[in-house]
Amino acid sequence: MVEYPGKLIVFEGPDGAGKTTQVKLAAERLQNMGYSVLMTREPGGTRLSEMIRQLLLDSDNREMSPVTEALLYASARSQLVAEVILPALTAGKIVLCDRFVDSSLAYQGFGRGLDLEMLRQVNRFALNRLGRFCTILLDLPPEEGLKRGKKREKDRLEQEDITFHQRVWDGYHFLVKKYPERIRVVDASSQPELVHQQVWKHLIAFIKGSHQGGVF
Ligand code: TMP
Repeated sequence: MVEYPGKLIVFEGPDGAGKTTQVKLAAERLQNMGYSVLMTREPGGTRLSEMIRQLLLDSDNREMSPVTEALLYASARSQLVAEVILPALTAGKIVLCDRFVDSSLAYQGFGRGLDLEMLRQVNRFALNRLGRFCTILLDLPPEEGLKRGKKREKDRLEQEDITFHQRVWDGYHFLVKKYPERIRVVDASSQPELVHQQVWKHLIAFIKGSHQGGVF
């Protein structure tokens, strides 16, 4: 594993927790302070990874097996890491990523019931030589998240029933215990600006080095 001059900060949480908004608020504030920031998302962020995203989220692809799903997420990720994340970290940038490996453990591991150790190995392979990073978990009960996302059309994963999303949520909380040095939890039930204040506390601690983050 290699430590790079840049920093990777990942935003995680159930669907509807407000990750995209929080990534934007954090990026704006960091840019105003003079940091060079790169925003990206998973699955996606490169031409190939966006193509894989379409396969994964298309609600017509009902026959996709859980293992195929897990491997496609890992493939999209390995391309993003190689093409975007590692070069940006090498160049000293701050990378803000909307979802990353913890999503695979929560959704494919807990949601689909795949073996966690197998998922970890496949994803370790996909991450190549990526070192420490920090994950901010935007915590919101799944019923709340699904309510917030009601207005738009649901993708293949969002169409799963509430028990699936409950398992995903339990999964995230398991991961908080498993990776205490890397994952920081923020209550996402309040207004975006208040959530941002909490996010900022953890993010700046990681950037300034008082919080070391951790590996996957
Ligand atoms: P998004 O709606 O946050 O863009 O994410 C797309 C969906 O993909 C979301 O329902 C969560 C799911 N997902 C996984 O199941 N596993 C993963 O590894 C990732 C990155 C996302």
